[in-house]
Amino acid sequence: MNGRDLVRSAKAVGALGAAQGMRAVRAAWRNRRADAAALPSRAGERARVPGLLTGAEPGPGGGVLRFERAELRITVTTGGAVFWGWDGAGPEPSYALAGAPPPPDPRARLEPDKEGGWRVVSERATVAVSRHGAVQVRTPGGVVLRHDLPPRWWEVAPGEPARWVQRTELPADARFFGLGGRSSGPRLRAGAYRLWNTDPGGSFGTGDDPLSLTMPVLMVVADAGTHLVFHDSSWDGSVSLREGEEGAGSGHDRAAGSELRMDGGPLRCWVLVGAPARILGTWTALTGKPAVPPSWALGHHHARWGFGSEEEVRRVAEGYREHGLALDALHLDIDHLDAHRVFTVDTERFPKLPQLAAELLGEGVRLVSIVDPGVRADPAEEVYASGSAAGVFVRDARGREVRGVVWPGETRYPDFTDPRVREWWGARYEERLGRGFAGFWHDMNEPVSFAAFGEATLPRSARHALDGRGGDHREAHNLYALCMARAAYEGLRALRPGERPFLFSRSGWAGLQRYGGTWSGDVATGWEGLRASLSLVLGLGLCGVPYSGPDVGGFDGHPSPELYLRWFQLGAYLPLFRTHSALTAGRREPWEFGAEVLGHARELLAERRRLRPYFMTLAQLAHRAGAPYVRPLWWSAPEDRALRDCEDAFLLGDALVVAPVLQEGARRLRVRLPRGRWYDTATGRCHRGPAGIEVEAPLSRIPVFARAGAVIPVLGPDGGTALEVWAPGEGRSGSGLLVPDTGDGWAEPPVERFTSRQRDGRVTVTRDSGEDPGYPVLVRGL
Ligand code: GLC
Repeated sequence: MNGRDLVRSAKAVGALGAAQGMRAVRAAWRNRRADAAALPSRAGERARVPGLLTGAEPGPGGGVLRFERAELRITVTTGGAVFWGWDGAGPEPSYALAGAPPPPDPRARLEPDKEGGWRVVSERATVAVSRHGAVQVRTPGGVVLRHDLPPRWWEVAPGEPARWVQRTELPADARFFGLGGRSSGPRLRAGAYRLWNTDPGGSFGTGDDPLSLTMPVLMVVADAGTHLVFHDSSWDGSVSLREGEEGAGSGHDRAAGSELRMDGGPLRCWVLVGAPARILGTWTALTGKPAVPPSWALGHHHARWGFGSEEEVRRVAEGYREHGLALDALHLDIDHLDAHRVFTVDTERFPKLPQLAAELLGEGVRLVSIVDPGVRADPAEEVYASGSAAGVFVRDARGREVRGVVWPGETRYPDFTDPRVREWWGARYEERLGRGFAGFWHDMNEPVSFAAFGEATLPRSARHALDGRGGDHREAHNLYALCMARAAYEGLRALRPGERPFLFSRSGWAGLQRYGGTWSGDVATGWEGLRASLSLVLGLGLCGVPYSGPDVGGFDGHPSPELYLRWFQLGAYLPLFRTHSALTAGRREPWEFGAEVLGHARELLAERRRLRPYFMTLAQLAHRAGAPYVRPLWWSAPEDRALRDCEDAFLLGDALVVAPVLQEGARRLRVRLPRGRWYDTATGRCHRGPAGIEVEAPLSRIPVFARAGAVIPVLGPDGGTALEVWAPGEGRSGSGLLVPDTGDGWAEPPVERFTSRQRDGRVTVTRDSGEDPGYPVLVRGL
C-alpha cells in the first residue's frame, strides 16, 4: 500500500464507520490481488494498423474491404444507419441493440473511387474508404461529416483482447453532445471523458467525470450536418474531444477532433446521419423504444434517504395534502429495509407497509422502492441462500463468489448477464409488489463495492456469463445496470402483465430506455449542481434515454430557499420531477422554505399537473419516434450556431421553450429563441425568433415560451383533457399532437393531430381530418 492508499484507507474508515471501513480496506486489497493473479500483463504488446488495401468484395448493403493486416465490413441498413466493423466484427452480439439489426439496404452499393479506395453509396450517406483504411462519412452532396483515420490496435497475444484507438477529424465548427450523462455539458468542451460507469462517491458537481451512466454515443452537430456515432464496445475507454477553430475565412481552419481509446471489445460502429429527430428515430429503431412511464410517474415524486418510519411517510404525505401540494409518489430509500438488505422490510419501523401503500394509493400517491443489487452474504438470509444455491452470484477466476461491500455489509452480486439469473432476480419483485410498491428505483448498480483505494467496484477479473459467451468484468461492468434493468422489467411484466413497469436506474448503458429511465444520482447542492442537472437530462435524451431528472434541491446539504425554488422550477419541466436528499441533508419539503417558496411551489405543482396530457403525449412520442421530451434549442435548427451554443434553455416538446434560472440572484435572463413567434406564457407578449431577448425572471417564475399556433394538450378546468392553443398570427396556422392517456396498460392509441388557424381575429382548432377537435379549446395569446 502506498501513502495515498493509506490516506484513503483511513478516510474510508472515518467515512464508513469502523466495521464498514475495514471491510472497504480489505475489499480493496482483495480486488488488487484478484486482478494481479487473473489478468494478463500488457507487457510485450504489438501495434498493428490495417496496412494497404488488397481487395474488395461487394455484399448486401456494402461489402468487405481487405487490407494487409485487417478487414473492414461496411453495411448500410434499410433505415439509413451505417455500420462498419473491423476484423470480422458484425453488429451482433450486442447489448445495445433491441433485436436483430435492420436488413441491409439493397440499393447501397460498393464501388471503386478514383483515388484507389472504395466507397459505399447510399441514399443518406456515402462511406468512402481510403487505401490505408481511413473511413469518411459524407453527405450525398459530398460534404465530409467525419474522417476516421486508420485505426490502431495493440495486441498482447492471440485470444487476448486488443486495445485500440480511433482518431477522427471533424468539421471546425462541430459541437459535441451526449456520451451518456455528463455533468459539464450539455455542450461537451475539449477534454477527456471516460467510458466507465462510476459512482463519484459523494456528491458531484460540474466537471466531475465519469458518473454513473456513460455510453459511447456521441452526437456531433456541424454546419455540414448532424450525426450520431456509437462505438458498440462496453469496455473501459475514454473519448478525448477537441473543438476546432475557424480561421475567419482565411482558409486556416483547425479541424475539431475526437480520439476514442478502448481497452478492448470489437472495433465496430454505427453512424446515423440526418436531422436530429430522424437520428433519434433511427437510434430508437436500433436500440429500442423508450418505455412509456405510467401516467403517475409523470407527476411529482418526493423521496428522502431517512424517512425512517411509517409515521414520517404519513407526515410528509399529510403535509403535501394540507398545503394543497400535488403529489404522485413517495420513494422509500434503504432505511426502510431490514439492516439495508434488499427485498426485506424493517417491520418495526414499517410494520404495515401494504396498508400504508393502500392508504396512500387512495389519495393518488404511489410508493416507489429503492432496489440495490448487492445481496448481503448471510446464509440465514433467504435471498442469499437461494441465490447462492442456484449459483447466481458473480464469481472470480477460481470459481469463488466475488466478495463486495455495500450498505448491508458484506455482499454478493447477481450476474445479470446470465438469463437464468435475470429470471431469478425478476421474480423477486413479487415480494415488493406484495408490499404495495408500484415502482422501482435501481441504485448502486455501477456496480458499487466500497473500496478504500483502487476502484469502488468489482475486480476486473470477476467472471460473467455474458449470455453464454463468457467473459470478465472488463466487458460486463458497463452492462451491469442495463442487464439489471432488463431483469426487473421482464420480471415485472411477467408478474403484472397488464401494467407498464416503472423503473429508473442510476447506472446503465446504450439501450437502457427499453426498460426505464434514470436520474442524476447524487448531484451536489449548489448552483453548479443545478446547472449539471440540466446538462445530464439533455445529454441523456440525445443518447436515447428521454426520461430522467435530478434530485431537486440537490442531494446533500441545505439549499437556500432561492436555490431550492430555482431547482423546483427547473424540475417541474423535466420528465422525472423528484425531490430527494441524503440522510444527513436538510429537509426538502416545499413548506420548509418559507411562505413565499411554498406559494410558488404550489403553483408549479399545479402547472405540472395541468401539463400532464402534454407530458404523456411526449412520453408516447418518445416511445414511437425516439425524440426526447427535453431537447436542446438547436433540435430543429442544428445549422443555427447561436442555438448550438445555447446551454441554459431547452425545448419541452415542440411547443414550449423553458428558460430556467441557473444563477444566484438573477432576476432577468437573456434567452435565445429559435425561429418562429413565441409567447411569453406569463405576460402574453409575443417575440419573434430567431433572436436573443431579455426577459424578466422574478423569483416567482422562470420564463416559459409557447410557440405561436401550438396546440398543447392540458387538463382543463373540469379535470378532463382540453386543448390550449396559442394564437397563430392572423392568416396563419399552427399544429399540435395528443396521444390520449389510456391508463396503466399497453394500449397504443393513435396520435390525434390538430391544426390551429387565425382568421379575422378568430382562432379555431380542427382535427386534421377537418372535424371538430372533440375537446374544449382554450385560446391564449389573443
Ligand atoms: C446513493 C443514491 C442516493 C440514495 C443513497 C442511499 O447515494 O444515489 O439517491 O439516497 O444511495 O440509498
